[in-house]
Amino acid sequence: MKRRARRWAVVPAAGRGERYGGRVPKQYERLLGRPVLSWALASLLAEPTIRAVVVALAPHDRRFARLDEAADPRVEACTGGDRRDVSVARALDALAGRARDEDWVLVHDAARPCLAASDLRALCAAVSGDPVGGLLASPVGDTLKQGDADGRSARTVTRDGLWRALTPQMFRYGLLKRALALCAERGRAVTDEASAVEMLGVRPMLVPGRGDNVKITVAADRELAAAILAARRGK
Ligand code: C5P
Repeated sequence: MKRRARRWAVVPAAGRGERYGGRVPKQYERLLGRPVLSWALASLLAEPTIRAVVVALAPHDRRFARLDEAADPRVEACTGGDRRDVSVARALDALAGRARDEDWVLVHDAARPCLAASDLRALCAAVSGDPVGGLLASPVGDTLKQGDADGRSARTVTRDGLWRALTPQMFRYGLLKRALALCAERGRAVTDEASAVEMLGVRPMLVPGRGDNVKITVAADRELAAAILAARRGK
């Protein structure tokens, strides 16, 4: 009899947020009184089919243990690495012996606090029958410019067929491990899991998601995320 694939989650939270430049790493900035990482974890924990959430932390992180979600029996921590893909690979290692190759792993950015439950369900529903897996993504709406060294627009890039890669990204445990090992072998730093999976020569499914699933990268993103969460709370 074929075994049912189970679901696990991984949250890379080991970044220093250099582009953000705040007093605390961006995943610990507060939004409506709650740290960004708490929002991200709560959105995953609201999905009962996720068996455990492994959070990859920077060495010497002392903030994580103070989060309410850290006490959740489904949440555990490991030490991340100096690149996002290394942090994800370490969290996958923490699942060794529990996750099977055919199980699903949802990787979600710690800095993405506005994941809607409907998007998480849509991703799981779209990808669960797929051999490769996929990611939430949003079609590019703006006109894109290629800038030059003088800060001038050198040309316009067609936006046809272009998507913004969001998270969660959902792949089979075995496939994702192989993809990240290949990245490490080739010394390629990737900024999302789908890039690593593409290196295996397969094509992740693009699952249309809400454009307001924003990642906090610079300080202004924090205000945007707070406004999105406040508007949802007001509904
Ligand atoms: O820097 P960026 O916004 O692309 O980071 C995306 C996510 O990857 C963040 O949640 C960040 O904490 C995480 N990350 C990590 N380990 C690193 C670098 C980034 O877990 N070395």
